[in-house]
Amino acid sequence: MRDQSSAFIPSAETLLDVAALRADTPGCASVVHFNNAGAGLLARPVLRTMLDQLELEANIGGYEAAAAREKEVAGFYTAIAELIGARPENIAFAGSATHAYSKALSAIPFERGDVILTTRNDFISNQIAFISLRDRFGVEVVHAPDHPDGTGVDVEAMAALMRKLRPRLVAVTHVPTNSGLVQPVAEIGAHCREQSLIYLVDACQSVGQYPIDVEAIGCDLLTATCRKFLRGPRGSGFLYVSDRILREGYEPLFIDMYGARWTAPDRYRPVETAARFEEWEFPYATLLGSAAAARYALEVGLEPVAKRTPALGALLRDRLAGVKGVRLLDRGPEPAALVTFAIEGWEPRPFKRAMDDRKINSALSLREFAVFDFGDKDVEWCLRLSPHYYNTEEEVEVVAAAVAELAAR
Ligand SMILES: Cc1ncc(COP(=O)(O)O)c(C=O)c1O
Repeated sequence: MRDQSSAFIPSAETLLDVAALRADTPGCASVVHFNNAGAGLLARPVLRTMLDQLELEANIGGYEAAAAREKEVAGFYTAIAELIGARPENIAFAGSATHAYSKALSAIPFERGDVILTTRNDFISNQIAFISLRDRFGVEVVHAPDHPDGTGVDVEAMAALMRKLRPRLVAVTHVPTNSGLVQPVAEIGAHCREQSLIYLVDACQSVGQYPIDVEAIGCDLLTATCRKFLRGPRGSGFLYVSDRILREGYEPLFIDMYGARWTAPDRYRPVETAARFEEWEFPYATLLGSAAAARYALEVGLEPVAKRTPALGALLRDRLAGVKGVRLLDRGPEPAALVTFAIEGWEPRPFKRAMDDRKINSALSLREFAVFDFGDKDVEWCLRLSPHYYNTEEEVEVVAAAVAELAAR
């Protein structure tokens, strides 16, 4: 082991009142939750908001409850917009990050020979969608090479591919699901702007963990879930759509009576805002819970969160580095709070079960989740531990000790 934790963990007292934040998080009392990259623990105001809405629906009717909360529903768009530096008109609610991503992809009228330029570390479901588009429409999928120094995609090589191939779409996952890697999305965005290319960013693991600014990233489309580092409910996400995309008339392939007006028997007109990417039916309790989660994150403050959360990940990596039989897999100069490692002598499910038995929440990543990355690292599976700001340094020690004990078996 290297150093004392206080040397590289920003002091909780000066940045965040961790004890108060834990008291506001019921799950902290029963589990060591190191699966925030799966789903973060709900804070009390989020839970209360959702339960109140369900109760209201039960008491006065679903449509009537939505009408009664019209102002709060509008608050979802305001809060998410503030979170990512956009305007409420540029935000669409979605049932998941993948739902938002499919809607975004469906808006691009791909033709045979069009190129999608992406990276070797983009999310599994995005890669599957690209292959599906290739098989159905004859689109070519090109993966930019990684930088030899292990810091993620080689931006200059990617920019050269942009100039050579003029891709119809550039798509990058900010923080992949399968490691702590943070991709240089703003540097890539600068090249996309320079070359007027459409740029789609998957910010599923970064929203709620870092301040996000769509202008600084320079993206046209950005997708995320609300359930991970944002600590919103399951079944919620959003899509950011830039003014340019709206102005140029991009719309999802399947657009419904909420996204468009039926103006004549054979015509419709999409609405002006990102609402054209939504559907008429909403899970209102979930949407309101997501709004509460976004407001909660803004109140806690993304700057301190972005200091403390990856630092807890760094502390955990430090503690695991000395454990015999454990191989840390994360790359990049300043990894996010997704800590991944391989362990000798264990099969994936029994190992995860052993962690569950100790009331430590974690997640498995299998080779098919990250075919390029796990191929390069030559691993079949790994365990992913993902702390958040409300976790403690003591919990990191508990988790590291559990891994060490299991590794020694
Ligand atoms: C980087 C990344 N993108 C997209 C997704 C998909 O999110 P959802 O399950 O909300 O569709 C995940 C989920 O783990 C993810 O980690």
